[in-house]
Amino acid sequence: MSLPSNRNTPSVQLEDGVRIPQLGFGVFQISPDEVQARVEEALDVGYRHIDTAAAYNNEQGVGRALTASGLPRDEVFVTTKLRNGEQGRTSAADALRGSLDRLGLEYVDLYLIHWPSPARDAYVDSWRAMIEAKRAGLARAIGVSNFLPHHLERVITETGVVPAVDQIELHPYFAQPGVVRILGERGVAVESYSPLGQGRDLADPVVLEIAAVLDRAPAQVILRWHLQHGYIAIPKASARPRMAANLDVFDFHLTEEDMRRIDSLDTGERIGGDPDTFEISQIR
Ligand SMILES: NC(=O)c1ccc[n+]([C@@H]2O[C@H](COP(=O)([O-])OP(=O)(O)OC[C@H]3O[C@@H](n4cnc5c(N)ncnc54)[C@H](OP(=O)(O)O)[C@@H]3O)[C@@H](O)[C@H]2O)c1
Repeated sequence: MSLPSNRNTPSVQLEDGVRIPQLGFGVFQISPDEVQARVEEALDVGYRHIDTAAAYNNEQGVGRALTASGLPRDEVFVTTKLRNGEQGRTSAADALRGSLDRLGLEYVDLYLIHWPSPARDAYVDSWRAMIEAKRAGLARAIGVSNFLPHHLERVITETGVVPAVDQIELHPYFAQPGVVRILGERGVAVESYSPLGQGRDLADPVVLEIAAVLDRAPAQVILRWHLQHGYIAIPKASARPRMAANLDVFDFHLTEEDMRRIDSLDTGERIGGDPDTFEISQIR
């Protein structure tokens, strides 16, 4: 396998000093059978940031791909997430050890609470377990996902530790300007999941028009919008040409007018679950 370096991908410095490549490869909905090949391909294309989760049931394949790549451990940034059904102080610590075993790693670069799952009322205890895991060197950085400002305020107030990242649904049709502003005020890095709106935002006429003017693919235009806002984005693609196109976004710019036009596409409607009510255990 030829392995180009990812030197073109800019990185974002998290509050705790850890640097995260601003563009990564997401593996949600890639089956356990398929994920090793897809991640090997993504690493071969040049991605050095992989986003998985215990709930995706594909950590083992991700780990096999990392081993097969032969890349030094410190050249790939690996994120995984705590399942809702494993929240709690002891269970979260056990869950991270399980993820590390499946990934074949001694540490992850970023460990996230996948959802606040408020009905369990265990996310503060889970956060305490993550703080301890970071101290123990099992995660270089810790953060949350799908946290709304009131969930975030609670963990900060009760533990005094600010999550480094909030990974939230964010794309032109669901741009969450209010949440983004509060994350910025708190020094929490914004990580966009479903950054292409699971493909739905790609056919928007404004996106198509800007793409035509720039002679770029619609996905590249949307990914530039994320990058120019300073967000971390983790698109998923099934085949190599799209993986490569999504990573080939560092040699052009959107104008301020392009940015404003894409900002104006926000509908306020999410695709995924509402963090205040999404409770699925995600345990098979
Ligand atoms: N924290 C959370 O709760 C959470 C929730 C959802 C997602 N995520 C993370 O975010 C990652 C990405 O989100 P996502 O998979 O939901 O949505 P996405 O990345 O916004 O969109 C993926 C879809 O866009 C298509 N696509 C990708 N590149 C394309 C291109 N260049 N041209 C045309 N179509 C393209 C893909 O098609 P093909 O696959 O056919 O190429 C796929 O259907 C996930 O893998 C996961 O890591 C996190």
